[in-house]
Amino acid sequence: MNDEEIVKFFEKEEVLLSPEAVEFLKGKGDDSLLKKILEKRGQEVFISKEFIEELIEEEKKIPLPAVEVKRASDFKPIAKEYSADLKLMEDCDVSGRCNCGGSVEDFVNLFRDRLKRTRRMLEMRVGATGMSNMTELGGFAKGREVRIIGMVTSKIVTKNGHILIELESEEGVAKVLALKSEREPERSCFEKANSLLLDEVIAVDGRASEPFVMATDVIWPDLPIRNVRVIDRDLCIAFLSDLHIGSRFFLQEHFQKMLGWLNGEAGGENGKELVGRIKYLIIAGDLVDGIGIYPEQEKELVMKDIYEQYDMLLKFISSIPDYVEVIISPGNHDAVRRAEPQPSISKELLKANDGRMHLIGNPSFVEIEGFKTLVYHGTSLDSIIAGISGMSYQHPEKPMVELLKRRNLSPIYGENPIVPESRDYMLIEEVPNIVHMGHVHKNGYENYKGTVVINSGTWQDQTDFQIRQGHTPSPCVLPILDLRSGRINVVNFLKREAVG
Ligand SMILES: [Fe+2]
Repeated sequence: MNDEEIVKFFEKEEVLLSPEAVEFLKGKGDDSLLKKILEKRGQEVFISKEFIEELIEEEKKIPLPAVEVKRASDFKPIAKEYSADLKLMEDCDVSGRCNCGGSVEDFVNLFRDRLKRTRRMLEMRVGATGMSNMTELGGFAKGREVRIIGMVTSKIVTKNGHILIELESEEGVAKVLALKSEREPERSCFEKANSLLLDEVIAVDGRASEPFVMATDVIWPDLPIRNVRVIDRDLCIAFLSDLHIGSRFFLQEHFQKMLGWLNGEAGGENGKELVGRIKYLIIAGDLVDGIGIYPEQEKELVMKDIYEQYDMLLKFISSIPDYVEVIISPGNHDAVRRAEPQPSISKELLKANDGRMHLIGNPSFVEIEGFKTLVYHGTSLDSIIAGISGMSYQHPEKPMVELLKRRNLSPIYGENPIVPESRDYMLIEEVPNIVHMGHVHKNGYENYKGTVVINSGTWQDQTDFQIRQGHTPSPCVLPILDLRSGRINVVNFLKREAVG
């Protein structure tokens, strides 16, 4: 059809077209598209090119497959015979607790709290005696041994390649110099100083040398060495994160296969034995892809309604066997405030009407069968990977260990938004038996000093952004912790039809 025919077609119906819309429709074949526009315009009397483009996009959409999970009739899970032992610990949900107004004073209070409580953890490690007061350092004889605690407020490499840091505490500021050297112990002290992050709280051993403290060691609060905890009950925890429901990259078919497996389908005898012991399932955020999270996200969404996204999640959760306790925390794609600590997802969005579904904040501590379990989405992992040499997205367990060493889930201020509460909820004061994160879409596991470290990967395929970044995710790999042995079993739902 030419311009005139198109305009006449719409004039008959008292509808006007923008010149761009006329141009766009020219040469688009028969009048079926024009009829479709009239049908879909509603009360609209003016049609723009954008309206037509959106309509064409909508028409192209392939209907989503229905949520369908198979269940085996002969499935007799042992976990059903156990009652749940689950405690949501204090501080696990921050909703309604925030009293901050975002003033300078609020931030000062946050950092004071960080300094005070990390100092306590450091003193537990190295002892409270023998600490030097920063204000007295200037009067110390050259070479006198000192030990100071403070927050790293600046870190620079001098022109000779040494590292100069400024440590600040409520008493004052100290300049600490870590010399570049090939000799031990200076070399390892330099290495530690090199991996320091801004705003973290550390102890430094050194020698007075006005105006500097010459560092001999850098000490983090770290975790004590313990054995991996085990129990006598024949139960397991399964770990999920980063489902991204609503994204066109969400691997629904494989996710449903996993849910079918949880219901005793296609497991083989070994698989059934393992799956039947799963009593708990934790999801560490990015449950849905969300709306407006990054520029032009709408092009990658198959569900553009946040309620629809959570409704689909709810359908999946209701297909998880009813004896499994499901613990859910949010991530940076979920519909809660972006700044951490994040409150739990509201019950309006995720209509939690059964008692086995537990909505918790991010981060949160939960106690499962006596295992102190720290659940955190892992947003700060980006800044740790960028800030410490030797870290990469391919091994998320390494930056997770760095966070544990620092006993702080978000050491660098300003890299990911933090709400200035008067208490620093990102500190890891309790020593966890299990630490579970996601966010980087890559599985990783570690036993760090007796703490089981798990990154549970993703259920989203590689996105265009990840292709551009050269990041290869590990989708559809489900880690399961055997609480009896302390071992992690991994089931890959991308590669295998039957699992075991
Ligand atoms: Fe994610």
